[in-house]
Amino acid sequence: MSDQVWPWWPLLPLYPYGRRRTLVRELIPEQLWSFEQLQGVFYVAVPIRMTVARVPGGLLLYAPVAPTAELLKALRDLEQRYGPVRSIVLPTASGLEHKVPVPAMARACPKAEVWVTPGQWSFPLQLPLSWLGFPSRRTRVLGEDGFPHGEALSWHSLGPIDLGLGRFQELACLHRASGALLLTDALVAINQQPPQLFDLDPTPLLFHARDRGDQALLDTPELRLKGWQRLALFASYLRPEALQVPSLGTLLAQAFQPGCRTARAYFGLYPFHWQTSSAAAFAELQPAAGQLRIAPVLERLVFPRTQAAVVAWLRDLARLEGLRWVVPAHYEAPVPCNPQQMEQLAGALAQRNWAPDQGNWAYLAGIDRQLLRWGVVPDRPRVG
Ligand SMILES: [Fe+2]
Repeated sequence: MSDQVWPWWPLLPLYPYGRRRTLVRELIPEQLWSFEQLQGVFYVAVPIRMTVARVPGGLLLYAPVAPTAELLKALRDLEQRYGPVRSIVLPTASGLEHKVPVPAMARACPKAEVWVTPGQWSFPLQLPLSWLGFPSRRTRVLGEDGFPHGEALSWHSLGPIDLGLGRFQELACLHRASGALLLTDALVAINQQPPQLFDLDPTPLLFHARDRGDQALLDTPELRLKGWQRLALFASYLRPEALQVPSLGTLLAQAFQPGCRTARAYFGLYPFHWQTSSAAAFAELQPAAGQLRIAPVLERLVFPRTQAAVVAWLRDLARLEGLRWVVPAHYEAPVPCNPQQMEQLAGALAQRNWAPDQGNWAYLAGIDRQLLRWGVVPDRPRVG
C-alpha cells in the first residue's frame, strides 16, 4: 500500500487520488516496457501509460506517470539491466495528465535530461516551467534544442494547432530498434476486454455495470465487461447518446439503500441511466480489436476543423520504413501497425464524415459550438 502513494495528486485531483497502482509489462522483449496507472474522475478511470524505451547507454521515459515507490522499484530494476534513465520526454503541449508527473519524475532521475514539447501552456495562469517544478538547468525544448537520441529515434510532430486558449501539439517518436511508434493522445485502440490493470481493483468497472444506484456491486466477468464498455463510452464521448441523467428525486430515492451504504459504492449515488444497450454503442466506438482511431473527444473538440492536418500527419507516419507497432499513452498497446495499415487509416479518415454532430457525438458537438460562439476557439485554426 505505502509504496503506491502519490503525494502530488491534489495537483490534478483524479481517481484514484493518492493511491496509484502500477502495472508493468514488457511490450517488446529487451526494448520496450509499459508502466500503466489508472486515472480519472468519479470512477471514469482509464489507464494512462508511460513507455520506457531502450536507447544507447540507457533508457528513455516517454510520457511519465506518477513515480510512486512501487514504480521506481521496477524502473530501478530496468536501469540495473540496461543502464540509467537518460531522457524524460513530455511529448504533448496540452495534455495536463501527462505533464503533472514530470517534475517528480525528474527529481527521481536527477541525471536525466528533461525534454518538453514546445508551447507548454497552463490554465488559467501561464506559469513558467520552473515554477511548475521543471528543473531549468536540464530541461530542453524538443525541436528548438534538437531531439534526444537521433541515432535511435525519429520524431514526428502533429501540429502545432492553434486552439485559441493555447495550442495542441504532440510529438510521436519512432523507436527504430523495435519498430514501435510512441505517441500520446492522437490515436487509440480501445481494449475490447477490460484492461489487465483493472484486475488489481475492478471497482470502477463494477460501479458502472449497475443500472441503478440501489444495486450492490457484484463481480462477474460479464459485469466487468459491461462496466468497461460504459466507462470507455464515457471517456470517449463524455455523455453518450444512450445515457440519461435521472432526476434528483430518483437519484436520492435509490441512494443509501442496504448494501450500498459504503464509500466504495458512493452510498448508492449513481447519476446515470442507460436507455439502450451500451454494448451496441461500444461496438460502434471500437468495432474490432486493435483498430486505431482518433479519440472522439479529440476529433470533435480539438481537431474539428483540422481534418487535413491530421490526415497529412498520418500519411507522414505511413512513410516510416520499419513501422511495426503503435504504442499510445492510453488503452491498448502495442497495436500492430505497418506502413500500409497506417496509409489505410489515413485514407479512411480522409473520406469519412469528420467530427459529426449526431448521435453519440451530439454532446461534444454542443460544447464545440458553444466555444465557437463565445470566440474561445478559432473558426479557422492556424496549423504549423
Ligand atoms: Fe492523455
